[in-house]
Amino acid sequence: GASAPGLGALFGGDFKVGTALSNNTLQAQNPGLEALVAREFSAITAENAMKWEEVHPQADVWDWQRADHFVDFGQRHKMYTIGHTLVWHSQMPESVFVDGHGRLRKRSDIEQTMESHIAALAGRYRGKIQAWDVVNEAVTDDGQWRKSHWYNTLGENYFSRAFHLAREVDPNAELLYNDYNMTIPAKRDFALEQIVKFRKQGMPVHGVGMQAHVHLSEPAIAKIEASIEAIAAAGLDVHITELDVDVLPQAYDYMGAEISTNFAYSEKLNPFPEKLPEKIVDELAARYESLFKLFLKHRDKVRRVTLWGTTDAESWKNDWPVVGRTNYPLIFDRDGEPKKAYYAVAGLKVAA
Ligand code: G3I
Repeated sequence: GASAPGLGALFGGDFKVGTALSNNTLQAQNPGLEALVAREFSAITAENAMKWEEVHPQADVWDWQRADHFVDFGQRHKMYTIGHTLVWHSQMPESVFVDGHGRLRKRSDIEQTMESHIAALAGRYRGKIQAWDVVNEAVTDDGQWRKSHWYNTLGENYFSRAFHLAREVDPNAELLYNDYNMTIPAKRDFALEQIVKFRKQGMPVHGVGMQAHVHLSEPAIAKIEASIEAIAAAGLDVHITELDVDVLPQAYDYMGAEISTNFAYSEKLNPFPEKLPEKIVDELAARYESLFKLFLKHRDKVRRVTLWGTTDAESWKNDWPVVGRTNYPLIFDRDGEPKKAYYAVAGLKVAA
């Protein structure tokens, strides 16, 4: 079994160690997994339960069941509990932006909808959520505002508006901007520029979440380090928010360009359906070890490291970018047993 104290306790003097709770876990279909999470982690994020489409599928319809269970889990186990996410372009009911006749709604209506969504969601859990991913994925890889419905209708001020609203509704929660590919300098620098600009105008913001959906060798540790340093230099906390390590050949390079020609054959699509070769098991452990070494080196900047799921069985990476892939990106295997990667991480804190 895993080491007795659990990762949350082992790294307790450095940063929180978290995981994402899937809907299956929240629906209590797996009490064993709940126990594992409670033992190993000191922070939790809702993988899907608080996304607009799930919690607020129609204008007057709220489905609180999974979100309530999530927050209750955090309270019971005294965990640092992260709300994910208030404002995102994805997993959104189209009806927020477009009326029954296919016409774009008025700017003021959309703004009002954002306000009431944040008021209801952040308000329901006021004082029980330690950090909100207030805005998620607002910037493109080439360093511009993403041309989402939010941006297209409200302009860039939707970003700062969301942070102001979150602050009004839950004054004690830490407020984060969260995005992927934050190691791409153009993207990272644009995001930081905007945040710093809005902060000067009074926008409350505490930190930046680097999602960290990484691969075995990319991005290089030096690039991740440069981004940790850049975020901290802007006066913001660093949260590693969605860490996992894809072990399969990449369908996209990490700049986002499709290289689909590599996927002409099904064995290339899903090369390890039964078992990961030992060589890659070792590479995965080494990758996790060097990532956590880096986070430890910057423990004065990194507040939290959250894995995007607990066991390989529940990882979104199994079905991405094509349904049916079998991936091995996390530190617990499909039976919830710790992998070599787990011991490599724990080993950084346990005296040999
Ligand atoms: O719950 C429904 C189910 O009722 C329905 O029958 C089924 C059919 O499609 O879909 C189920 O919802 C799925 C949901 O996961 C819950 O399993 C959605 O289709 C699916 O799109 C959704 O995927 C999630 C994805 O975000 C999109 O929201 C992944 O689990 C989740 O890991 C992933 O997480 C994101 C972060 O929020 C933001 N950063 C990137 C990260 C990875 O994409």
